[in-house]
Amino acid sequence: MKTLLLTWWTGYIWSHCTVDALEAWYEVIIFDNLTNSQQSVIDKIQSITGKSPKFYHWDLRNLEDIEAVFRENSIDAVLHFAGLKAVWESTQKPFEYYENNVTWSMNLLQVMKQHQCRNIIFSSTASVYNPFAPVPFSEETPTGNTTNPYATSKYIVENMLRDLALHSGLRVINLRYFNPIGAHQSGLIGEDPNDIPNNLLPYVMKVANGELPELRIFWDDYDTRDGTWVRDYIHISDLVSGHMAALEYIQKHTITLVDRASAGEMQQISLSQLQNPNMYDHETWFFEIFNLGRGEWSSVLEILHWAREVTGKEIPSVIAPRRPGDIGDCYCRAGKAKIMLGWEAHKSVYEWIEDSWNFICKQNKG
Ligand code: UD1
Repeated sequence: MKTLLLTWWTGYIWSHCTVDALEAWYEVIIFDNLTNSQQSVIDKIQSITGKSPKFYHWDLRNLEDIEAVFRENSIDAVLHFAGLKAVWESTQKPFEYYENNVTWSMNLLQVMKQHQCRNIIFSSTASVYNPFAPVPFSEETPTGNTTNPYATSKYIVENMLRDLALHSGLRVINLRYFNPIGAHQSGLIGEDPNDIPNNLLPYVMKVANGELPELRIFWDDYDTRDGTWVRDYIHISDLVSGHMAALEYIQKHTITLVDRASAGEMQQISLSQLQNPNMYDHETWFFEIFNLGRGEWSSVLEILHWAREVTGKEIPSVIAPRRPGDIGDCYCRAGKAKIMLGWEAHKSVYEWIEDSWNFICKQNKG
């Protein structure tokens, strides 16, 4: 497997993944409408890796555009990141979320099916877990009962993928992200939304460098150890290495097939040997879910405390009402990815914050 299509909607996770994929000698094709990212990120990727991804400045709205990308390239696997991703924003703009995250995913899946591209790694989220289920969330924890359109849109796409894996031979890995933070150690790429950030650490960083006046802590009187919600934060480079492990897994994993021509003779065959999928009936289906988290947790006040320590800045804060759509404590049981992918997160809380601060400082120097 050598050619990957990465669908982007922002330059954060996806740009880091492009760097790792290029460094692992994949050919990378990017499909991004630049809604929430800048084209300059491509130059930065080039200066880190010395290589360039092929870039299509299109979005998934148009089936013909997606078609053209699949016609022009022989794509082995898709890493489908594209989507809007802010919990609060999704409560204000539900239809944008359903359209971007669900309808446009459906467009992509339709074209993948037409072109017999059978491998997809999907960026899902911890927020698909049923918020009434007890933490830590394992991959077996019930999903659904989502509390905001962002989570609902991811939940719907996960279920569409499951249907297609069952009935159309699509090979799927759902990666359920917990809370990615941090930046590339070069300081060249990181989370840099075009707008005011929705997520905690980018917001804290912008208060630290004086771009925003204060952090609003969305309530401090919950039944938790310091009254603020906890999350399972994970460094972006750990998250990305989880994708690389998933890619290896989807390639190496052999599937049992029935060869129609030789009337049912069974053979074990790896994906890369699979030249003509139409010749076979599937005996097994391939649909895996992995949590990408650390199985450890930090509260909002702890993140703020560490950010003050690392940056040496005051970072003013106020207590504000609960943010609509927010769920309670959220952290994972991380063992499945360790056992099956041989993957686990290594970076410490200080590295999350140091790398983010380094990125912000470099941005400001221009
Ligand atoms: C959610 C998803 C996560 C997804 C992310 C993408 C859950 C459990 N997690 O993260 O899988 O990757 O969206 O955007 O739904 N906070 C403040 N002040 C702020 C910003 C945030 O107090 O200005 C608090 C929030 O209330 C929350 C925590 O910080 O308790 C983290 O919030 P955020 O960074 O926005 O991520 P989630 O909403 O948890």
